[in-house]
Amino acid sequence: GREDAEYLLSLIRTIPGFPNENVLFRDFMPALADPRGLGILLKALQLALPVQRQDFDSVAGLEARGFLFGPALAASLGKGFIAMRKTGKLPPETISEEYTLEYGQESVEVETNAISSGERVLIVDDLIATGGSASAAAHLVEKCGGTVAGFSFVMELEGLDGRASLGTYPASALVTMP
Ligand code: HPA
Repeated sequence: GREDAEYLLSLIRTIPGFPNENVLFRDFMPALADPRGLGILLKALQLALPVQRQDFDSVAGLEARGFLFGPALAASLGKGFIAMRKTGKLPPETISEEYTLEYGQESVEVETNAISSGERVLIVDDLIATGGSASAAAHLVEKCGGTVAGFSFVMELEGLDGRASLGTYPASALVTMP
């Protein structure tokens, strides 16, 4: 309910000037550390799923903060978890997808056999800003022969057009912040 939503919001910390000037860094670690907060977070993610539970097969989380709650969410839904890692962390063989950051290139990788043909994957991460890593994750799922069922985020930053970068995929975020 409303009280839970307010409680969860109170556990999102804002750090001005991290990792550099002009950034208001939104940090959900206090929500994970708090027993009630963690319970609310996981329940709220289940309730806010952008698609029906029966309309996806697995949950894929983005390194690193998608790993903090993705497996717990997957378990609570009776699904498995797929790790989408940064470059060079997984033993061969992997499939990867590059994307552009404000400065430079990044990439996400999965093991070649992590996603089966036609597998419907829900992609999770803590936060969507510009959507660069989330859309790379979507391309990666498709490169592997899977389909993207949708995206679940804890937080969404306003004014960065992150949603637009996700095209028509269903997406949900628990809280939207400036
Ligand atoms: N918090 C966490 N990750 C981020 C943020 C933020 O505010 N902005 C871009 N990535």
